Amino acid sequence: MNDTTLHDTALKPKEMETKMKNILLIQSSPRGSESYSEKVARSLVGDLEERHPGANVVVRDLAQNPPPHVGQAFVGGLSTEPEQRTPEQTEALALSDVLIDELLAADIIVLAVPMHNFGPPSTLKAWIDHVVRIGRTVSYSQKGPEGMVKGKRVILVLARGGVYSDGPARPLDFQEPYLRAILGFIGITDIDVVPVEGLAMSAIGPEKAVASAMARSREILSQVA
Ligand SMILES: Cc1cc2nc3c(=O)[nH]c(=O)nc-3n(C[C@H](O)[C@H](O)[C@H](O)COP(=O)(O)O)c2cc1C
Repeated sequence: MNDTTLHDTALKPKEMETKMKNILLIQSSPRGSESYSEKVARSLVGDLEERHPGANVVVRDLAQNPPPHVGQAFVGGLSTEPEQRTPEQTEALALSDVLIDELLAADIIVLAVPMHNFGPPSTLKAWIDHVVRIGRTVSYSQKGPEGMVKGKRVILVLARGGVYSDGPARPLDFQEPYLRAILGFIGITDIDVVPVEGLAMSAIGPEKAVASAMARSREILSQVA
């Protein structure tokens, strides 16, 4: 937990506004309004807005508007100085710049992520391929790579049919460890996780899974804001 945010309630409204004003909600479920990750994440963002009146919320829906897979022009553009890029390379990198600007502008990022085949959906992987960029979100020196995206809080809302936070399926979870690793690589280490799991299991099911996720969300928010 970020210590300074624990004292937010003691701040005057104006100071609160400058403290946390931009919330980025990234959705990646193709199931639209049926999506459990989206349902829990939207409720969480609603609670954040209540705690931070005037907060600006940006929603990026990767299922509705999937970033393209990175191609030849994208990769060529990465290793070419901006003024030397071909029009195709410039165009291929334009969305990457937009997505990075969106990420850098956010104070708190809520990622709503369904598990697809033990990992995040391919649309979210495509977003990651667009935002992990040398010179913009990660720098390299003789000391090695260093993340450039500092001072962000991330809440991962991870929806799964099975249970992966504990038990026999835990080694098959390539969703949370991967997201923690890649976000850490670009400098984001302040990460909380809200599992929405056991959705397809008769012993748990959607009602219990969502109730437990909502309780976890409230717990996180009570510690943060
Ligand atoms: C293509 C696909 C692959 C899936 N793979 C897994 C999986 O590997 N493990 C799992 O527990 N659930 C898996 N599921 C179930 C989803 O995680 C579950 O339906 C969850 O509710 C998805 O989140 P959403 O409701 O936000 O879309 C898969 C679903 C789909 C559509």
